[in-house]
Amino acid sequence: MRCVGNTAGAHLPVNKKCHCLSRVTPDSISVITDVLVSEENLGAGAEDLEWFEAAEVLLTEQVKAVSGKLMQKVNTGVYGPLQLAYISTGDGIAGLAELPDQQPIAEAEELHSDLLPARYEGGLKIWECTHDLASFLACHPTFSMRGKKVLDVGCGAGLLGLLALSQGASDVHFQDYNVSVLTSVTMQNVLLNTTENTATRCRYFAGDWQSYVQLTDDEFKSEEAKFDYILSSETIYNPSNHTKLYSVFRKRLKRTGIVFLAAKTYYFGVGGSIRQFEKLVEEDGVFESSVCWKCSEGKKEITLIVKSVFKSRDGYSSRFILGAGV
Ligand SMILES: C[S@@+](CC[C@H](N)C(=O)[O-])C[C@H]1O[C@@H](n2cnc3c(N)ncnc32)[C@H](O)[C@@H]1O
Repeated sequence: MRCVGNTAGAHLPVNKKCHCLSRVTPDSISVITDVLVSEENLGAGAEDLEWFEAAEVLLTEQVKAVSGKLMQKVNTGVYGPLQLAYISTGDGIAGLAELPDQQPIAEAEELHSDLLPARYEGGLKIWECTHDLASFLACHPTFSMRGKKVLDVGCGAGLLGLLALSQGASDVHFQDYNVSVLTSVTMQNVLLNTTENTATRCRYFAGDWQSYVQLTDDEFKSEEAKFDYILSSETIYNPSNHTKLYSVFRKRLKRTGIVFLAAKTYYFGVGGSIRQFEKLVEEDGVFESSVCWKCSEGKKEITLIVKSVFKSRDGYSSRFILGAGV
């Protein structure tokens, strides 16, 4: 079931965007604790929806054939010492006609929507927290991914998984809801940034998180098979999906592993919030979490990066540490 890459290699960037962490503010965490979640905003009503089943998606010759077209226009993100090339959303959509499972994306495009619950979940666009988490990781060598197994959950363009790959991760699994996001954007970005050899360290999984956990259950029975790092950005916007996402963390992380979750404090119009997710984690009592970075730009929104690790076996600490540095 392994995918095969090609030798796409490096391409000259058209745009170069620098994402640095200089805008970190040491504000008190209390700024963000009072956000209320209104019932009517719980919006998506995920329980009533039919979610796509999970499947492994292979990087086929058909997917590679599209890459030639997309690579005409490439952006480059700069994260600390690392640079990653990525195609823009528009270019991704342009490639879709030739690839399978394009219908949900076409519907979203027609409606000019970033989100069609359980049809298209927003992976074509690169969301801000991805850049924040990529910068955070690139600037903290303590969390180097060299030789590590990494899962990028709700990966969209896959920049976090790509960062792990470029740091020398041994295995990177990219998971996204829509097959077409994986084939038209994620895989294309992997092809852009890697050699054939490196690309063979990647696997791709589409479908709903609940079904993804079921699909991969046999493979992840042993501790050794699990991930050293699970990375996720902007995936908590829909509160109805929190338990599914949390179960990916719970069931796929090694005892010694770390989850990095980057998210906005509150998702207006959809209802998810970091507070709700933290509560879920806290109530389960298995992880110890801390906010290890935050940013408030123009006081519009706050991005948090939450780091979760399994509690030590003797239950050493049950505190939820906020605002702590790493
Ligand atoms: C807002 S996008 C963020 C994409 C990317 N992580 C970023 O920051 O640019 C949310 C991502 O989570 C995935 N997602 C949302 N709900 C999901 C679900 N129930 N099962 C699987 N993936 C889901 C979507 O496919 C999408 O890629």
